[in-house]
Amino acid sequence: MNDLNDSLNDSLDAGPLRVAVLVGSTRDGRFGPVVAGWLAGQIAQREDMEADLVDLVETPVPTVMPAFGQQPSDEDMALLGAVVPRLESADAFVIVTPEYNHSYPAALKNAIDWHNQQWHAKPVAFVSYGGISGGLRAVEHLRGVLAELHAVTIRNTVSFHNYGDKFDADGKPLDPECDTAAKSLLDQLTWWGLALRDARAARPYAG
Ligand SMILES: Cc1cc2nc3c(=O)[nH]c(=O)nc-3n(C[C@H](O)[C@H](O)[C@H](O)COP(=O)(O)O)c2cc1C
Repeated sequence: MNDLNDSLNDSLDAGPLRVAVLVGSTRDGRFGPVVAGWLAGQIAQREDMEADLVDLVETPVPTVMPAFGQQPSDEDMALLGAVVPRLESADAFVIVTPEYNHSYPAALKNAIDWHNQQWHAKPVAFVSYGGISGGLRAVEHLRGVLAELHAVTIRNTVSFHNYGDKFDADGKPLDPECDTAAKSLLDQLTWWGLALRDARAARPYAG
């Protein structure tokens, strides 16, 4: 046990894991910030990670990409400048996604596609919400996308089925088991996040 703790402490010498929490919906009246706010609160209680809430409404990315070999316009570069460095400096990600037509929102895919190396050799966890399926179809689709981007997706998910009656007025889940599920998810994210941060520091990723 001491060896394990020593190894964990060595990895944390580089500081807590920087976790970008990406809010996947941009719809007017969206519920996403409630879920993301709760998750960020779970991260705030931990000493091994710190959250950076990346909200695509507050910091939108362009929706039209330049031709291959061309640079984005100055206006688009300004938008990207508010997001790219935050994903670049992240050691790990949590994507908070609803389910739209049995998959994830177009705005989220657009934000993912604007980035490439920023995802490489980093872990991604998912928190989802939706109707009876709890957004799990969105999550399973995201796993394939992120594999293409050299990311590692975390096995556990936290999903809110019929989410509308699952939170109180303060944005806290009514079921205390949700905090337990978030802890398991974040423990797995920490394991991968520290392992991959150490590995990236030891040698550049082959991607
Ligand atoms: C375009 C659209 C498609 C949707 N499709 C599904 C779906 O396939 N499965 C589901 O469970 N909920 C679906 N919903 C309901 C969403 O889960 C629900 O509206 C949720 O609040 C969306 O997240 P948001 O409020 O953060 O945008 C859909 C909602 C929208 C707007």
